[in-house]
Amino acid sequence: MVYQVYLRSFQDSTGNGVGDLEGLRSRLGYLSEVLGVDAVWVSPFYPSPMDDFGYDVADYTAVDPLFGSLEDFDAVVAEAHRRSMAIIVDWVPNHTSSRHPWFQASRSSRSSPKRDWYVWAEATPDGGPPNNWLSVFGGPAWEWDDATGQYYLHSFLPSQPDLNWRNPEVRSAMLETVRFWLDRGVDGIRIDVADYLMKDPALRSNPAAGPAADMFKSRGAYDRFDHIHDKAHPDVHGVFREFRRILESYDGHRVCIGEIHEWDPERWALYFGTNNDELHMPFNFSLLYTPWDVGEVRHRVDSFTADLPEGAWPNHVLGNHDEARLASRFGTERVRAAAMLLLTLRGTPTLYYGDELGMTDVPIPPGEEQDPWGLRVPGLGRDGARTPMPWTDSAGSGFTRPGVKPWLPVGEGVAPVDEQLSDSRSVLGLYRSLLALRRARPALHSGDMRFVDAGRRGVLAYERLAGEDRILVALNFGTEPATLQAAPGAELLLSSHGRTHLRPGPDGSFELAGDEGLVIDLSR
Ligand code: NOJ
Repeated sequence: MVYQVYLRSFQDSTGNGVGDLEGLRSRLGYLSEVLGVDAVWVSPFYPSPMDDFGYDVADYTAVDPLFGSLEDFDAVVAEAHRRSMAIIVDWVPNHTSSRHPWFQASRSSRSSPKRDWYVWAEATPDGGPPNNWLSVFGGPAWEWDDATGQYYLHSFLPSQPDLNWRNPEVRSAMLETVRFWLDRGVDGIRIDVADYLMKDPALRSNPAAGPAADMFKSRGAYDRFDHIHDKAHPDVHGVFREFRRILESYDGHRVCIGEIHEWDPERWALYFGTNNDELHMPFNFSLLYTPWDVGEVRHRVDSFTADLPEGAWPNHVLGNHDEARLASRFGTERVRAAAMLLLTLRGTPTLYYGDELGMTDVPIPPGEEQDPWGLRVPGLGRDGARTPMPWTDSAGSGFTRPGVKPWLPVGEGVAPVDEQLSDSRSVLGLYRSLLALRRARPALHSGDMRFVDAGRRGVLAYERLAGEDRILVALNFGTEPATLQAAPGAELLLSSHGRTHLRPGPDGSFELAGDEGLVIDLSR
């Protein structure tokens, strides 16, 4: 399992209200001993003006003093390795900060040797932007530069200019930055907006969105276009093949995860490569954008796990720092069944910090919003899902020192870690049981999967199999009780808080409560 740490919100060690690397190091015991995660993905910690909270990088091979030092980073890696956990760093190759020296040089004059390192283009005859591309964060994707009389491209904020990945110098300089972290011992790289690296070289305008356009999430005006020219150009596959070759030139197993926003499973699967020679794990966000509906979930799981290329391994994501929290999307009563789903499906699960507590989105007081997306496009802010981890119910919540105001408010809706640890039926307790079961049972961590007929609408049931090891999972998506037909096996785990065991009826059937999930051992 991959656990995502949004560093600003995990553990503050200095008392400035912002999480940092030493704070993360001090909590690795929780991740390894309490949860038993395999890999920790750490959000960006590089020097940055923080316009997009670190996704605007001003130096790819250093640590922002806000988060600590390179030595602190090395200590995180060493401690994680001592505990047999992998460290995955976030790499932001599509754009730099406008304060990066490369962009400073590029914008200094049209004849700068670095001019072509970014995407510059002439205005149209009437002075408008070169095409109709929009920024994900609202408004045009082009910013006029008065000094040199051209527009530059920014798929995100104007202070996040897009690099020109068609320039071989950019490609080699950026891949050098990957080597820097691999040389320091990191086990994997998560590539930010990986499918944005290559655009149409002719900078053609995007067509208007048709019914089949790639729209998995409502993003305002951005959705009016079919984004076929400003991202996902097939040339990106050459970059990923080169990236993979670099990873494979290192010892051990180094993994590449790509942030790929692709709603069409066939197009998504292309990112594994033709001979599994590109990304190990193009993030599968399908469940992140699927309503809690049995038919929809089955359809998405099926279409993103069946027919994968040879050697490709599935993965599932139910939460991250860009989306509303799982508990807020599905409702707190569904959190337990959702945990069971995530940790029993075939494929690597990615767990967003705090989802193991059932954290919900925290309302941010007016005037205290921080996320640039929400400030530019009201309603799309991500702050609520990025609030500090509650460790204890003392002042500072164990996240920061008493009396210190954390960078975002700590939510009050969920019991902190220490409280949940003392109750094995808490949401955290359920995650721990599920993770332990997943580790112990080959059927769950590496077995095949097939859907089975649960004999009842509203119940999703599937078997996991590895040799003699057979497990049945049944999840009641409905709010009413549902009978699960005779399942000749013994209960392994029940998701509910209120009751600990389900007794099979005389005919061997189980009666699931609404929103309840059950794992049954079918092995003999
Ligand atoms: C995707 C990241 O997950 C998000 O947080 C960020 O704002 C954009 N990329 C831009 O880098």
